[in-house]
Amino acid sequence: MTRVLVTGGAGFIGSHFIKLALRRHPDWHIVNLDNLTYAGNPANLPTDPRHEFIKGDIADAATVNRVFEPGFELVVNLAAETHVDRSLRGAADFIRTDVLGTHTLLAAARQHQVAKFIQISTDEVYGSLQTGRATEESPLRPANPYAASKAAADLVALTAGVPVIITRCTNNYGPNQHVEKFIPLCITNALDNQPLPVYGDGRNIRDWIHVEDHCAAIDHVIEHGTPGEIYNIAGGNELENITIARQICRILAKPESLIKFVTDRPGHDRRYALNADKLGWKPQRPFDLTGTVEWYRANEAWWRKVKSGEFRQYYQQQYGQRL
Ligand code: NAD
Ligand code: DAU
Repeated sequence: MTRVLVTGGAGFIGSHFIKLALRRHPDWHIVNLDNLTYAGNPANLPTDPRHEFIKGDIADAATVNRVFEPGFELVVNLAAETHVDRSLRGAADFIRTDVLGTHTLLAAARQHQVAKFIQISTDEVYGSLQTGRATEESPLRPANPYAASKAAADLVALTAGVPVIITRCTNNYGPNQHVEKFIPLCITNALDNQPLPVYGDGRNIRDWIHVEDHCAAIDHVIEHGTPGEIYNIAGGNELENITIARQICRILAKPESLIKFVTDRPGHDRRYALNADKLGWKPQRPFDLTGTVEWYRANEAWWRKVKSGEFRQYYQQQYGQRL
């Protein structure tokens, strides 16, 4: 058995990655270390004897050292604070988890001589691009505390003396994404005939990739990537936010009058775009929100639970004045 540590596996991408890895690698035993923050959801976890869940904090050295004790051949670090709007309200959790957490994992990986450490980063580290596409050589120009914490983690990872590979992917969509993010928020609000909040003029551009394609790309990097290298992963689907909101209304047969333009996100990056030629890998799925919309329609209990509790208060603070 190959022992693999995946962190953040109760979150959106981490849970999809574990499911894909269990399907593709019958010889893997996966330990999933996740602190179950507001973003971690036990309902996302697979039930499989080759998956072992441990609740714990990647920034806590005692926990991490204990988890590393039996040793791992591979580490895939997906645990992070991930929501830009929350980072604008307070950056401490982002610095702690994304930077100190990554450092803590790297220190243990170094001590235990882990053969490969995959650091899951983001296109946001390159900042906003008016034209062209960022390559792996482009300068780091993070413009919000989340992106800054991810950029810092990348630099910490590259200098840790561990065989690290960094991936930087564009925006993911698909089932199980937390409702704080734009696409699930629009889908679930539309299902409830509530406003779809679009920041600013709605013309900010993101490049969207299906989460299963992103996970397949990570698996490709594990097999073919070279330690010390950075690989961009791109969806190749640059779309304005307003186009996304309109598509969701169309798929759900809701009126576009539900779309509401609201006060912009401070320092809102206009456009992210990547050149992913270096990896030489292409996503398989054409951009289509139908399956994702159907998943949220069919899994109302999942998102109603996520939308209650902590999220209600967050939503009120974040959108109360704007809507
Ligand atoms: P998510 O917010 O859905 O999940 C994050 C997970 O990390 C949660 O399960 C949470 O409980 C866990 N976590 C947070 N702090 C922790 C800590 N201190 N210790 C242990 N676990 C902790 O995030 P996601 O969208 O699945 O993103 C996963 C990774 O992919 C992140 O590193 C993110 O930066 C990166 N990424 C995301 C996207 C995207 O579009 N969502 C795109 C590119 C890169
Ligand atoms: O680019 C990769 C990044 O994508 C990841 O690294 C982040 O973890 C992930 O959260 C995501 O960041 P974004 O800020 O791009 O995602 P979000 O879903 O928050 O917003 C997508 C776009 O929609 C962005 O231009 C802001 C806009 N938006 C967002 C929300 C929440 C709105 O117009 N209204 C909203 O209510």
